[in-house]
Amino acid sequence: KRVVAFISGGGSNMLALAKAAAAPDFPAEIVAVFSDKADAGGLAKAEALGIPTRSFLRKDFASKDAHEAEILAALADYRPDLLCLAGYMRLLSADFIRPYEGRILNIHPSLLPLFPGLHTHQRAINAGMRVSGCTVHLVNAGMDEGPILAQAVVPILDGDTADSLAARVLVQEHALYRRVLAGFAAGTLPGGTDPAQSVLSLG
Ligand code: GRF
Repeated sequence: KRVVAFISGGGSNMLALAKAAAAPDFPAEIVAVFSDKADAGGLAKAEALGIPTRSFLRKDFASKDAHEAEILAALADYRPDLLCLAGYMRLLSADFIRPYEGRILNIHPSLLPLFPGLHTHQRAINAGMRVSGCTVHLVNAGMDEGPILAQAVVPILDGDTADSLAARVLVQEHALYRRVLAGFAAGTLPGGTDPAQSVLSLG
């Protein structure tokens, strides 16, 4: 399966997927990395692996529609089967999603539906949670609310800061995302690619 990954920042999740996908038996290939930031650190990481990159700066476009239209047109060049959002900090409209319905994955650093949006680690700590974690879900036009494909859990330890918790969760994000992409691309997630069936808890 051909995958285009979307980043806005450091791209550590994209890098984890790209490294996993380099294995000959991995059922997906990262064919391009798209970013909405020209200075996203992940762009250099992708280029170092020989993966083509494209940047689409919102300020270069008169509207969100025009920005999304350019990205959709560029996507057609790469013929992706799947899109993987990986630290991509922009909401996709229903019109953008429609041609890729059910084929856009996202990684979010909380146990959704708890803590959608930003600053998830501080919010989990403030709420007195004893566990946190990350979620891979299918993307719909809402924010962090599409069908959940898989989750990984980490403990919140006494004295944890948002940074120490983020670091613990990030390790699990990388492990979870590469496993879910492999399963989704191979159609081996429970229930194949039918999101209604494919909820699994990964140990
Ligand atoms: C990660 O926690 C990711 O879940 C969130 O941003 C953080 C950095 O992601 N969206 P990455 O290193 O850019 O993949």
